[in-house]
Amino acid sequence: MKKNVNVDVLWTVMRMLESEQTEEALAEVISTLLSVLKAESAAVWLKNEGDGHVYCVSSAGDVSSTGYSIEAGQGIVGEACEADELIFINDAASDPRFPGGKDEITAFTVKNMALMPMKAEKKTIGAFQIVNCQNEGGFSEDELYLIRSVAGLMAMVIKEKGFTAGSEGEKKVVMSLRNITKEYVSGVETLKILKGIDLDIFENEFLVILGESGCGKSTLLNIIGAMDSPSSGTITVDEKDFSHPQEKDLVEFRRDEIGFIFQAYHLMPNLTAIENVEYIAEICKNPGNSAEAIEMVGLTDRANNYPSMMSGGQQQRVSIARAIVKNPRIILADEPTAALDYNTSIEVLELIEKLIAAKRTTVVMVTHNAEIAKMANRVVKVKGGKISSIRINPWPRHASELVW
Ligand SMILES: Nc1ncnc2c1ncn2[C@@H]1O[C@H](COP(=O)(O)OP(=O)(O)OP(=O)(O)O)[C@@H](O)[C@H]1O
Ligand SMILES: [Mg+2]
Repeated sequence: MKKNVNVDVLWTVMRMLESEQTEEALAEVISTLLSVLKAESAAVWLKNEGDGHVYCVSSAGDVSSTGYSIEAGQGIVGEACEADELIFINDAASDPRFPGGKDEITAFTVKNMALMPMKAEKKTIGAFQIVNCQNEGGFSEDELYLIRSVAGLMAMVIKEKGFTAGSEGEKKVVMSLRNITKEYVSGVETLKILKGIDLDIFENEFLVILGESGCGKSTLLNIIGAMDSPSSGTITVDEKDFSHPQEKDLVEFRRDEIGFIFQAYHLMPNLTAIENVEYIAEICKNPGNSAEAIEMVGLTDRANNYPSMMSGGQQQRVSIARAIVKNPRIILADEPTAALDYNTSIEVLELIEKLIAAKRTTVVMVTHNAEIAKMANRVVKVKGGKISSIRINPWPRHASELVW
């Protein structure tokens, strides 16, 4: 009797996969399976041989993992994408790979998890993940048959249609970090802060870095901005090696290519708003017009005010004008809104949004505010000295839509 049900489901799945819209078809298929198996969520993960990452291309149910990516081989999903057979974890709470019973990528509470490798032409190309199925003892033979068949059908269609994961391939990489480590020697102890960071920073993207206090976010930002040097690893800028730059190149890079925005605005107290901007314009290679930068941040009326005469939000806007006037490739922002109230934060974020659109700048921002991460094109999480996940946001929000 059950077999008949499965045949019907398989038939439905096959019809769905005939669609030209592979992405939508996959979403339909996995939500169908979700209801048949009475599970809480399901997802399809695909390997991208080009960049060595595994991407979640579709998900359904209580938790959305669409857009997340992990390094190949990393975690349980990465393991499944290299595996041959089903991996089933029936008690996630007692499995060290689920600290506190939670999924490391999505923080979703996991009771059980099944990962069926998806194979096409005898190669594992990804994995079909099912989270929290009702039957805690695992799947019946019929259900296993169904999961295996659906995984196989999806793999076949993905291969046939040339459907690929990850859209980064088309973007220009401004800076690449590989295996970056940072250690501090404190007395007899060596503190390992960054333990092998791999990250590409693209042109004209808004990248947000999240992570617990002390995990090394500012350290990473300072390494990107050449304000600090890594203990080991390689850095390339525009595909040229920048791992061991001469002091002169370092100074020029910092001065001409990078704009900084800090939580504490770091303005010169004895200079007016416009003078703070002009001072920077005078020392860099390709400056814009200081008055225009001040206008862009909406402070023309306040151009002759000293920092002490301005509110926090206004001072932060001067510091943004100071970053803008350099026409930098990358603007690095370390908690730029942490000291500001909600309305002022939104104004500052709108400004950053405008800047990315108008000047094609790349912005890398460290924040504790997960709501701000919704604006990003990609969200990088740092944990235990490494990047634990990178999430691509298919539909970044506007600053004006954020609420906290
Ligand atoms: N110069 C230094 N010498 C020794 N340890 C340092 C030094 N600079 C940073 N650290 C340590 O490195 C770790 C990471 O610091 P970092 O400032 O990068 O963290 P963070 O993620 O930015 O934290 P927060 O969210 O609180 O700003 C911390 O434990 C910090 O104490
Ligand atoms: Mg910090």
